[in-house]
Amino acid sequence: MKTTLIKNIKQIVGIEREGKLRKCGKEMTETETLNDAYLVIEEGKIKAFGLMEELPEQTFDEEYDAKGGQVFPAFCDSHTHLVYANSREHEFVDKIRGLSYEEIAKRGGGILNSAKATAAASEDELYDLAQQRLDGVKSLGTGAIEIKSGYGLTTESELKLLRVIRRLKENSPLTIKSNFLGAHGIPMEYRGHQEDYVDLVINEMIPKVAAEGLADYIDVFCDQGFFTVEDTERILEAGIKYGMRPKIHANEMAVSGGVQVGVKYGAISVDHLEQMGDAEIESLKCSETMPTILPGCAFFLNLPLSPARKMIDAGLSVAMASDYNPGTAPSFNMQLVLSMACIRYRLTPEEALNATTINTAYAMGVSDQLGSITVGKRANFYITKPIPSYEYMPYSFGENKVETVFLNGNRL
Ligand code: NIG
Ligand code: FE
Repeated sequence: MKTTLIKNIKQIVGIEREGKLRKCGKEMTETETLNDAYLVIEEGKIKAFGLMEELPEQTFDEEYDAKGGQVFPAFCDSHTHLVYANSREHEFVDKIRGLSYEEIAKRGGGILNSAKATAAASEDELYDLAQQRLDGVKSLGTGAIEIKSGYGLTTESELKLLRVIRRLKENSPLTIKSNFLGAHGIPMEYRGHQEDYVDLVINEMIPKVAAEGLADYIDVFCDQGFFTVEDTERILEAGIKYGMRPKIHANEMAVSGGVQVGVKYGAISVDHLEQMGDAEIESLKCSETMPTILPGCAFFLNLPLSPARKMIDAGLSVAMASDYNPGTAPSFNMQLVLSMACIRYRLTPEEALNATTINTAYAMGVSDQLGSITVGKRANFYITKPIPSYEYMPYSFGENKVETVFLNGNRL
């Protein structure tokens, strides 16, 4: 059995001993730490950790000297659209000149712009682009990622995207979950009769996706100008029949009913949440659904901020993910999400850490194995350059503080 020792760790952060699968409300203010520590990996899992001065006399197959760096659980990014063909900086300029995201979408830009480029790209091209992006993702300290389809919008293209995600799963050291988002945009030819597109998603796409076992989750963009609550209910019911658990895009443009529909259908998460009333917060209490905020999207589109503080103070769990995509969040940097959580949403550093690790792990169904430093969990963590304290992680925004990353016990 291969063993690896990490020695001379200034501080281990994000220790979780009780096996909590997510942190709610006040629990989010807690992060256990250990100073001057070692950590032992055995067969890809965390075997033990403790004080350097109590390091057992033992030989290890490998040793790594952290040289005073800190150990944090690798980020889990529970919401991304990482597989796409083209960047969309021209729309970015249109937005600076005054067009809104919805206006761009109405005239056939936005998601439809990406769908056109995806249709023209081969599976290999999409795979190579996605692999390059994943290299960037892991170098910044992310160890698990959820990836959606949704830039296909035809059966053929949606399957192509999901097959790319399957290949990434097979070949990447990152833990990857796939999410079928056929209901991401309404193709031009279905404008005015979108129920026919919903029929296509239900009757053709979902059975084919399921036949190849391509999706862990099913998603719908339930929002003003996109899919209605009724469309969403129909699609979720069909997906659930085939064993896909819902994750929802809700309440980005308007209070859409998306949060309630997600809770009703046992969604593992409802995401975006820029527009939240008291009824939405109430509906999430005592539910299994993780409210997930996407700070990069609100930043990039200048949207109102989701009331994260109010949600945590009401006792809810909150997760924060990147939403990495070419239209509304062209950054997969979870260190930046951590900073935005504190700076823009007034989370404490401890709350922000929990929001981007254990709670995002929950939102992608992997928190029994990932998201904290826990004996028995997989050895997915990053070691920082020497930094003065863990609060420095969100404080020093824009700087890459990660020195090295271990995934499944292997150093990248
Ligand atoms: O999560 N809101 C819907 N979907 C993506 C954006 C997709 C795009 O504009 O390409 C999001 O922000
Ligand atoms: Fe998204």
